[in-house]
Amino acid sequence: MAIKFSSAFAKNIKDTAVHAAVCETVEALAIACKQISRICARGPLEHGLGAETGAANTDGDAQKALDVRSDEIITAALEAAPVAYYASEEQDSIVTMDKSKLLAVASDPLDGSSNIDTNVSIGTIFSIFIAKGDAVSSFFRPGSEQICAGFFVYGPQTTLVITAGAGTDTYVLDPDTGVFTLAITNMKIEPASTEYAINASNHHHWDAPVRNYIEDCLLGASGPLGAKYNMRWVGSLVADAGRILSRGGMFMYPGDDRAGYKDGRLRLLYEAAPVAFVIEQAGGMATDGGRRILDIKLETLHQRVPLVFGSNEPVQTLTDYHKKQD
Ligand code: AHG
Ligand code: MN
Ligand code: MN
Repeated sequence: MAIKFSSAFAKNIKDTAVHAAVCETVEALAIACKQISRICARGPLEHGLGAETGAANTDGDAQKALDVRSDEIITAALEAAPVAYYASEEQDSIVTMDKSKLLAVASDPLDGSSNIDTNVSIGTIFSIFIAKGDAVSSFFRPGSEQICAGFFVYGPQTTLVITAGAGTDTYVLDPDTGVFTLAITNMKIEPASTEYAINASNHHHWDAPVRNYIEDCLLGASGPLGAKYNMRWVGSLVADAGRILSRGGMFMYPGDDRAGYKDGRLRLLYEAAPVAFVIEQAGGMATDGGRRILDIKLETLHQRVPLVFGSNEPVQTLTDYHKKQD
């Protein structure tokens, strides 16, 4: 047993076959991510985890050894789980595993690849749907149809942040027992916050609403927002999301005018939608600057989407900046 579920886990999933399939799949992911966590903990002793393989994924990202190895570990784990279809950041197209199975799983097997060789927290993101007809129909739908989603963080703690639609919980991998153990139940994000996360080096590429909002934050207490702001940017979505869940804040990866960045950098299926599900279940908001992330229907497998999420008040304030422009 790699995870000891809380008694309330997925209690809102009334279909017993689906509930069992979700638990079995999360258990399989927990076993796989314990393996990835151990590889990360060995770092340079594993020789070249951060080395580029020379290949690139569909989205054009250079693939690193650990990206590929993590995808292989997740793939093998899901092949033994009740999964019909698997979609991955590191695979061009959807993998059909066993059409007779109940679930469809999407994953970012290794999030934060630019941090692999720097001993900074990285992670694995997953999203679970009930399979629907065929491979494409199982994923080309709004994120609101997810039945479970979450992410693992390989950091000082190895954690699993997860929701199945009845709140967001955090499990911590207990190094003494090797079991993901429930640590924080029904997390609630602070509604207000003066901390934001954005890659500030892209400032001159942003659209006016984002530029104006950040410039107003920088004006501090004497500016229109009337407060001193703080900034954190890890460069690993899972680490920023974990911090925001624990102490509030707002994450932004907006679209910008760099080639290929019209819709930002993050992918809807296996980054924005699972994080949005977790954040909303913790009482926060997740939008593309205007639309709710979970309402956006997937149109292409690796499509990007501008991503803003976290404490309700700043997310709403930034939405107002966009409305002002419109
Ligand atoms: P991935 O390593 O899976 O490609 O994801 C990296 C993402 C996300 O984790 C992070 O928030 C963002 O890229 C960082 O982007 P920049 O390097 O442009 O700041
Ligand atoms: Mn990622
Ligand atoms: Mn990745």
